[in-house]
Amino acid sequence: MKSLKVGAAIAVALSVALGLMSGARAADAPGAQYVGNTTCKVCHNTPDTGEQWNKWKAVKHATALEALKSDAALKIAKDKGLTVPPSEAPECLKCHVTGYDPATKKAPAKIKLDDGVQCESCHGPASLHVKDGQFLKFNPDKASTIDIKAHQPPVTEDACKKCHNEESPTWNPEKYTKADGTKAGFDFEEAKKIIAHPNPKKAAEAGKS
Ligand code: HEC
Ligand code: HEC
Ligand code: HEC
Ligand code: HEC
Repeated sequence: MKSLKVGAAIAVALSVALGLMSGARAADAPGAQYVGNTTCKVCHNTPDTGEQWNKWKAVKHATALEALKSDAALKIAKDKGLTVPPSEAPECLKCHVTGYDPATKKAPAKIKLDDGVQCESCHGPASLHVKDGQFLKFNPDKASTIDIKAHQPPVTEDACKKCHNEESPTWNPEKYTKADGTKAGFDFEEAKKIIAHPNPKKAAEAGKS
């Protein structure tokens, strides 16, 4: 446990030194800002491409702030001796709200606390990707000049483990059963199935090749 905490402290010190605070990760598109889920919804909510926004709304991440208002949350806060309600406590908000920075006690400008854990918690701040998407939309003839993946890095296990870890007061080390039968507090493969929002068009293309 101790070495884990020291490791985390070093990681935090390093990210401060590199100017990577406020939830940014090493894989984030450099210079990108958080835009919030309503912007993603404009392009990512049609049935033929997978309705990502509706699927996000339907799983627990979207209600992660509500969870901090539950009786269970109030009990955890009481046991920890918190002096403010959990839905206002930086020690809870840092994992229950996208990009929340416990040092400044703020979420990024475009992020509403009520929206809980949004798209950019996993996909990283996406302002540059949105610019790419808008360029594509308005300049379909120039599609070959844009790599839509350039500013939208793949989601890694580390992105999840920033929140799904032992520091969570509700962490249950036996919550998941892995493919090989062993138990784990988090399993990337199993957890991804629960939150899945694939683009059926891409799946069809992959199937063809
Ligand atoms: C102006 C339109 C537009 C907006 C707004 C937009 N995207 Fe996209 N995005 C696209 C297009 C076009 C693609 C390529 C086709 C596809 O994968 O659906 C794409 C692809 C993606 C991909 C898949 C990249 C890959 O590896 O194939 C992710 C992830 C993604 N967007 C996330 C987001 C998130 C998160 C937001 C909001 C913060 C967002 N997008 C906002 C247009 C947009
Ligand atoms: C390190 C990240 C992290 C921190 C800090 C954190 N949580 Fe959570 N919380 C999670 C995750 C991840 C889950 C999903 C279950 C799990 O794996 O623990 C969760 C789930 C919960 C749930 C269960 C909701 C449900 O639907 O059953 C409650 C209640 C909760 N948290 C309250 C709190 C309170 C209160 C605090 C502050 C004292 C807090 N959390 C701090 C990550 C965190
Ligand atoms: C809890 C984490 C998480 C959240 C929240 C989340 N995603 Fe994803 N998203 C993923 C993962 C994991 C994948 C699988 C692809 C990968 O590994 O890069 C994915 C894939 C995608 C893809 C590509 C689908 C495909 O088959 O090409 C798009 C587009 C996307 N997400 C958009 C969104 C949008 C828009 C939101 C919010 C409305 C959102 N995501 C919320 C984790 C998340
Ligand atoms: C910013 C913090 C954060 C990130 C990043 C995050 N989660 Fe979560 N996740 C939570 C919280 C908080 C909850 C509990 C929400 C509730 O119960 O209302 C949760 C709940 C879940 C649940 C519901 C079942 C459970 O374990 O309690 C799944 C599945 C899940 N997350 C998968 C993922 C996956 C997969 C990723 C990465 C691709 C991911 N999460 C990234 C904070 C996060």
